[in-house]
Amino acid sequence: MPLLIRNARILTLQNGSRPRRGKELADLGLIPQGEVLVAEGKVVAVGPRVEAPADAEAVDAQGRVLLPGFVDCHTHACWAGDRLAEWEQTLRGVPYAEILRQGGGIHATVRAVREATKKQLAAHLKTRLDAMLRAGTTTVEIKSGYGLETEAELKMLRAIVRAGHEWPGTIVPTALLGHAFEGDLDEYARMVVKEMLPAVAKEFPAIAVDAYCEEGAWSLDACVRLFEKAAKHHPLRVHADQFTSLGMVPEAVRLHARSVDHLEASTKTDLQLLARSPTLGVVLPATGFHTDGRYARAGFFVDAGGAVALATNCNPGTSPTHSMPLAIALAVRCCGLSPAEAIAAATVNAAAVLGLTDRGTIAPGQRADLILLCHKDERQLAYELGGNPVDLVVAAGRIVR
Ligand code: NIG
Repeated sequence: MPLLIRNARILTLQNGSRPRRGKELADLGLIPQGEVLVAEGKVVAVGPRVEAPADAEAVDAQGRVLLPGFVDCHTHACWAGDRLAEWEQTLRGVPYAEILRQGGGIHATVRAVREATKKQLAAHLKTRLDAMLRAGTTTVEIKSGYGLETEAELKMLRAIVRAGHEWPGTIVPTALLGHAFEGDLDEYARMVVKEMLPAVAKEFPAIAVDAYCEEGAWSLDACVRLFEKAAKHHPLRVHADQFTSLGMVPEAVRLHARSVDHLEASTKTDLQLLARSPTLGVVLPATGFHTDGRYARAGFFVDAGGAVALATNCNPGTSPTHSMPLAIALAVRCCGLSPAEAIAAATVNAAAVLGLTDRGTIAPGQRADLILLCHKDERQLAYELGGNPVDLVVAAGRIVR
């Protein structure tokens, strides 16, 4: 049945280039009082007044804000076990990198993931996905990376795809093949390039490939070797400059990576270089909030003309949250984005990170992923802390919450 949402303050995000960069980010394409007609999963019409068939189901938005569903473009939401004991260690001052060096951190989750079945992984993930949907996320990227062995990485990717079959939103899997390593990094990276990458590519052709460039994780050299091999058939994404700036940003730009994610420790020169390139910068402020209070300079990046996106980084180690509204609230307080810029970063630009042009805006022909807030002013999204500002969620034209 067609769906008509009327009397809404609509943020269409229709204007500007894709992705939005620089000043364009602040233009939300506002229709102060308007209507959206949806049929067969897509937006049919949007404007101050639209023609609707008589049998359309009508929702009166009562002047509240309607915007595209959030796209959470960077998560590690598929995991087993927990890291509560380690979190207590970090509260007592033990750094994340030290826990990783001692065989905990990512390695602790790797052990739990290896022990879990695909079905168990999918079931844990489903619980997190439902919480994401309630908070307005209709598209989510989920990385592997807690397997570290070919079969375990494939198990994760299969569990991610399986969980997506039972969820009304869209899941985009990413092969995080360079998250950590066992034994000698050189040998391990060689195995990933020779064995793991082809096995993953065979079952998941054109999947994005990711790596974590950081001291104690993958070196710049190992990342570049993996990416040079993967670049022909896969979009590239990279975790760079989380704690240390190792020179990955210029390499990512040279390799035409889709995105560089984290950027907490990036130099101004690297941010300017990234801002002038087609590669998006993804900021993850819940990570700094949960760990060490360091944040990416997203405001500086946008002022330099950059295309910024925003994500939760949902994971058990550095960002235990599923909430895009929280990510928006933190990006505004800690990364220098305005509320409008953060909304664009969480929708249209986050979709661009995933190579999706059919969502992230409200325009005819776009997938009808929409959220209706409890509020009449979109700034409440960034202002409110710890609640759920989302009242209604529509995924592919269907009211799912
Ligand atoms: O993006 N830094 C690498 N990966 C995650 C953390 C994963 C974990 O600690 O389990 C991140 O912060």
